[in-house]
Amino acid sequence: MSKEHVQIFDTTLRDGEQVPGCKLNTTQKLIIAKKLDHLGVDVIEAGFPVSSPGDFESVEAISKLVKNATVCGLTRAVENDIKVAAEALKYAKRPRIHTGIGTSDSHIKFKFNSTREQVLVRAYEAVKYAKSFVEEVEFYAEDAGRTDNEYLARVCEMAIKAGATVLNIPDTTGYCLPSEYGAKIKYLKENVKGIEKAILSCHCHNDLGLATANSIEGVINGARQIECTINGIGERAGNTALEEVVMILKQHPYLNLDTNIKTPELYGISQLVSEQMGVYTQPNKAIVGSNAFAHSSGIHQDGVIKNRETYEIIDPKDVGITESAIVLTARSGRAALAYRAKNIGYELTKLQLDEIYASFLNFADNKKEVDDSDIHRIIETSNLYQQIISA
Ligand code: KIV
Ligand code: ZN
Repeated sequence: MSKEHVQIFDTTLRDGEQVPGCKLNTTQKLIIAKKLDHLGVDVIEAGFPVSSPGDFESVEAISKLVKNATVCGLTRAVENDIKVAAEALKYAKRPRIHTGIGTSDSHIKFKFNSTREQVLVRAYEAVKYAKSFVEEVEFYAEDAGRTDNEYLARVCEMAIKAGATVLNIPDTTGYCLPSEYGAKIKYLKENVKGIEKAILSCHCHNDLGLATANSIEGVINGARQIECTINGIGERAGNTALEEVVMILKQHPYLNLDTNIKTPELYGISQLVSEQMGVYTQPNKAIVGSNAFAHSSGIHQDGVIKNRETYEIIDPKDVGITESAIVLTARSGRAALAYRAKNIGYELTKLQLDEIYASFLNFADNKKEVDDSDIHRIIETSNLYQQIISA
């Protein structure tokens, strides 16, 4: 059975860049946009053009540069925002305007001092106006995660009537459980009139650490676009991490869903984004963290040396990491020491290994990690050195 395509909508340059301290200039955004296009994302959300002259300039420059992906600009449901976004996107091969409004009772009351009926009208008018400029219009129902499903379905119907081609269902505050978010998408698939004219999109925030799980539940229940960022960078606890959802779909082929992402480029682009933004990824970050393919306990190292698949579900080369790392610490066993010693040119017999291992443990108790130069030193200072090198 052929797989269904899930569009990857990257918002590193918009939702990701909103993070304090992550501001990028136009040149930096162009470098990242080029890599994203090469990576195979379907949509690049390039910015929020009305927000500042710098953002306008970046969206315009990215529109001129990008060859394959759709280039998208964010707006509020405000005429001038939409007009300015259309202007910034005018050079894009495939422009998309992303417009919308808050739909939860809390947004309607406290942000807009408005009513549900008035919000329905604003949603309709914003999409209709955006549609007068571009074919691809994506509508977002901000705080959809906390919007009741019946009303959300009415808003979606309005947006479709006005011409929306994509309906973004953001869990703006990262509140939903995966089962709730999946049920929301299912409800919309089953209850919105005209839903076959649009695709549903997941846009999840990570306040409870559930952004990736929620996005996956969303596509299992019928959404066909995931909005995400490299390294999961984004407001507060961040957005869904692109590398995570892509690898989940790849590692679970029975879901019959795939993306166009060239996964061996994931590690490189992760490094690029953290360098440019000056935000370093935590070592235990799934897929791209420095420890994601590093093994340090003796039992795991022994297993991985015998067969990588004992403790790894992904081949590191599939995400652009050359090889798994066997990290030598005081918790490492003989197998790991023999393996690392062999990598730097020492073939140790069983007896030699026993003796070197004893010195290694003494050394490792006083150092967090034992590196190649330490192994050289341990072997060179042992009584067996001459025997080892003359073998
Ligand atoms: O989280 C959110 O609701 C957003 C919208 C503006 C799409 O980022
Ligand atoms: Zn967001």
